Amino acid sequence: MPRKYDFDVLIIGSGAGGLATALRLADHAKVAVLSKRKISSGSTNWAQGGIAAVFDTRDSHADHIKDTIEAGAGLCEEKTVKYVVENGKKSIDWLIGEGVNFTKNTYISAQDSAAIEGDYHLTKEGGHSYRRVIHADDATGAEVQMSLQDQVRLHKNISLFESHMAVDLISNCHPDPDKRTCTGAYVLDVKKDCVDIFRAKCTVLATGGASRVYLYTSNPDGSTGDGIAMAWRFGCRVANMEFNQFHPTCLYHPEERTFLLSEALRGEGAYLRLPDGERFMHKYDERLELAPRDIVARAIDYEMKRLGADCLYLDISHKEEGFIKEHFPTIYEFCLELGYDITKAPVPIVPAAHYTCGGVMVNLKGQTDVRHLYGVGEVAHTGLHGANRLASNSLLECVVYSETTARDILSKLDRITIDISVPPWDESRVTDSDEEVVVSHNWNELRHFMWDYVGIVRTTRRLQRARHRIDLLAGEIREYYSNFRVSSDLLELRNLVVVADLIVRSGLLRTESRGLHYTLDYPESDPDLKNRNTILRPARRLRKTEII
Ligand code: FAD
Ligand code: SIN
Repeated sequence: MPRKYDFDVLIIGSGAGGLATALRLADHAKVAVLSKRKISSGSTNWAQGGIAAVFDTRDSHADHIKDTIEAGAGLCEEKTVKYVVENGKKSIDWLIGEGVNFTKNTYISAQDSAAIEGDYHLTKEGGHSYRRVIHADDATGAEVQMSLQDQVRLHKNISLFESHMAVDLISNCHPDPDKRTCTGAYVLDVKKDCVDIFRAKCTVLATGGASRVYLYTSNPDGSTGDGIAMAWRFGCRVANMEFNQFHPTCLYHPEERTFLLSEALRGEGAYLRLPDGERFMHKYDERLELAPRDIVARAIDYEMKRLGADCLYLDISHKEEGFIKEHFPTIYEFCLELGYDITKAPVPIVPAAHYTCGGVMVNLKGQTDVRHLYGVGEVAHTGLHGANRLASNSLLECVVYSETTARDILSKLDRITIDISVPPWDESRVTDSDEEVVVSHNWNELRHFMWDYVGIVRTTRRLQRARHRIDLLAGEIREYYSNFRVSSDLLELRNLVVVADLIVRSGLLRTESRGLHYTLDYPESDPDLKNRNTILRPARRLRKTEII
């Protein structure tokens, strides 16, 4: 039987963004946290390198701001960058207070030039002019995720709902669009197979990114852009979706799922090599292996295509064995199990889709375009990342925005009442599907053509081809969605198609190459497009139970 729940705040997502927001609210509000799979199934749990913030007195906010803006290739919002950077250390201190154990500065081996002041070891990544990445060995995300989820489980005001997947947001349907508010969400209880109603005074999207729209990705299975698609259907603007970040170095293995080889490896001295062992980054950027990610990923893509190679190589074997094992225990073990000893030889790598720089537009308080609806983390477009995210700025953004969002919510909670007029989910016109193959086929097709046509290097023709296919898929899925009972696979596919459409439309609108969007038809940046975000506005706003 479907159920109705009432909370002060509904948080959709249980990664760093969702959990941190929940903890900051929970002393003053009743909070529900949803996760469509297990609590730790988001990208946060997989994060490796660390979190960027100014800890060393020889580093400065000005330099972190400059590096972020430079990586962002002319599209960062300076106000946002300044806010995030200046609140960086405070946010990390908060994480430490919640029990996150970052690697201490106790070991400085002969080869480790990181003679850093202070308690914590700081590593370096591409685009950073200084060592400023605080980390928990090479498994920072797991440490953050576990610490926050332990706190969440202990808090009496937080109710956690695993295997609960938000289907769509609910509106109060006010005739004046400016007075329309978000009053909760319809949520599929995946285990019981029914759609519940979660009513809330405020709702926070913390659903992560959309990199599963690509065939090869560093992301876990759930990164299907649900929050972006839900917000879009609900009437929110979405910005800069053409900027998908491809991480340059994922382990290449024909059978294994994609595994990231942290940029911190290059930060600590690893080289990129061609199959014949030659280094090549000097041909592309004077910062060599530590150029920003867009440059490194494109260089690898170019060299692979030039040579017809399946992969290139990452090599840290010239460093001391003890140093490698001490800094990168997770990566060392994972590779060893697959037969690659990173202390002895180079490992094969390829780029893979990694991060969604665009997303639901939010302001400095985390507010979206619709009242009482917020966005925190990778789902959101805050203006921090511009056309290319600087490494390790994402977890930072999650934690900084959890604070500003929670503060804004708490300032208005007393004045909001729960909308009890929400109608139940209507299943009267649907039946059980007898053709699940439609869903699995379309999933595969979508991810294949997005990889082939909308990848690291694009052309207008390829984008148009993708657009044509997306239109066909969207029609098929709309029909399927209207006729059959919802399942999590169908819902994810429906969201992925929306996201793919937003990416391709944004790509077609950007008639230049900038940051992560590189097109052979416009290989240069257009100075007139500097500071111009690609903002898509939905044509209309969803009614209470409308299906699209
Ligand atoms: P996530 O952690 O992805 O969590 C999303 C949550 O939303 C999940 O709980 C999911 O179940 C839930 N969800 C989604 N849709 C629904 C729905 N419809 N209903 C209910 N629940 C839903 N960034 C850094 O700053 N430093 C790093 O070192 C770093 N390394 C990375 C390494 C890897 C391999 C990857 C994949 C990413 C890395 N990133 C890193 C990026 C960073 O990890 C993510 O951007 C960040 O963790 C996103 O956090 P989030 O809370 O926004 O989303
Ligand atoms: C990495 O460790 O290379 C990932 C860092 C990031 O995505 O910010």
